[in-house]
Amino acid sequence: MLPFGAEPLGSGIVLFKNKINVPDELTSFLYSLKEESKVKHYSYVCDENGNQIYATNKSGHRFKLEDIDKNCSRITDFYDSCTQDWQSDFFRSCEKAIYQSMIEYASMYPMVLPCLWWKTHGHVLAYGPGSDLGLHCDNDINFSPGFEPDFQLGIRHVLAAITYFNSSKDTVDDDNFVGGKITFPYAGVTYTPEKGDILMFPGNYMCAHQVDEVSAGNRYAFLEYFDPQRYYRTQRRLTRRATDERVNGELYNFFIKDLGLKD
Ligand SMILES: [Fe+2]
Repeated sequence: MLPFGAEPLGSGIVLFKNKINVPDELTSFLYSLKEESKVKHYSYVCDENGNQIYATNKSGHRFKLEDIDKNCSRITDFYDSCTQDWQSDFFRSCEKAIYQSMIEYASMYPMVLPCLWWKTHGHVLAYGPGSDLGLHCDNDINFSPGFEPDFQLGIRHVLAAITYFNSSKDTVDDDNFVGGKITFPYAGVTYTPEKGDILMFPGNYMCAHQVDEVSAGNRYAFLEYFDPQRYYRTQRRLTRRATDERVNGELYNFFIKDLGLKD
């Protein structure tokens, strides 16, 4: 039996509908963080006259100056920016909903669980008008010939979890955006973002994906990854209490008895 609210879309892509309540005030809070993050996340390389030539981000990727506004912004230190209780409470509730969804996901695909020992510190990805994201998989290193990034951020990602903070609509309003659908071409899946949903999928090439251009408004999503090994100091270890949280204990039995992890 499928876990409540889980909708398999194919190739290990699972949609968890309406898993979190997103407060109306969130998008304006995230807009201010998005503008701050553009300043923090880019370093600029100048010529001998002090003119900016290009920018690099923290992963060492190089960007044309005219592309900066079109790029997605990563908001990584949102807890530091939470000045009100509802803000930090909201992000904690997201992490909890993602964790619960991961357990539901593992009950559908039990062999994923031995691969999941650590989780990344989540971050918000903000797409402004005109931004999109080309085809990639979440465990690639975005290698370009002649320019290999120093910090290979995603190399160990096994399972991705994207939580949507606002929705794709036909017309833009204060809270939502136009465009920004995510497509998995090898899996034949396209998903239109809806506020409160969580999408989980494997980080490998079979779930390569791309995001259509956001033609109006700002698209906000929260990203977490589950990995077999620790890679960032900020990663937190998952406990095997995960297996106890299954209501019927099927998963726990699977690990304890079927895989013989414990007598
Ligand atoms: Fe991705």
